[in-house]
Amino acid sequence: MNHLVSPSLLAADFLNLGRDVTLINRSMADWIHLDIMDGVFVPNISFGLPVVEHVKKIAEKPLDVHLMIIDPDRYLSRFHEAGANILTVQYEACTHLHRTVTEIKRLGMRAGVAINPHTPVSLLTNILPFADMILIMTVNPGFGGQSFIHDCYNKIRELRRIIDENGFNVLIEVDGGIDTTNAASLVEAGVNVMVAGNAVFSSPDPTETILRLKELS
Ligand code: DX5
Ligand code: ZN
Repeated sequence: MNHLVSPSLLAADFLNLGRDVTLINRSMADWIHLDIMDGVFVPNISFGLPVVEHVKKIAEKPLDVHLMIIDPDRYLSRFHEAGANILTVQYEACTHLHRTVTEIKRLGMRAGVAINPHTPVSLLTNILPFADMILIMTVNPGFGGQSFIHDCYNKIRELRRIIDENGFNVLIEVDGGIDTTNAASLVEAGVNVMVAGNAVFSSPDPTETILRLKELS
């Protein structure tokens, strides 16, 4: 499959959020990434359900919602009602991950599981048959604009091999420090979906940067 690009609104201009969602609508982007941070699972607070609901009103692309929150089970149906199409929970925040993934899918969303940089791919063995996507965090979650952790290439290659060998229908997404300099090598390593925040919204021409991430140029 061709790889997908999911610009992260965490790096958008919050005073002009509608303008930046419209920019994504009109660009080559495939999804819109929304980072939900609770100040407990990660040392930062971003935005919550009302923002997702408002973005949904004008979004013309699927909402790729990344929950960096403890106890996500309490909010799965609320994020579904707010308009999430893909809902990703952190492996480290879920005691009963199989139940959580099953519930996300029962609600009609695609289920993603994110792993922090220190969490090995080998721990995913028993959830891979059920998940729609694995999000390999390539920074420690909590903030945009951090440097890509290079060791994550090994995890991407390992996960690609496991998915292909077993014929699982699971996308690999990466998130954190992605830009036009590493995008091509990430796709080469087996990535299907790239999240990019600062690389897009801090660039002089975000639409052009999204195009470059799509074309790997
Ligand atoms: C980090 C978030 C990311 C963030 C990426 O905790 O999960 O989605 O927006 O930002 P950049 O692309 O700037 O590293
Ligand atoms: Zn994210």
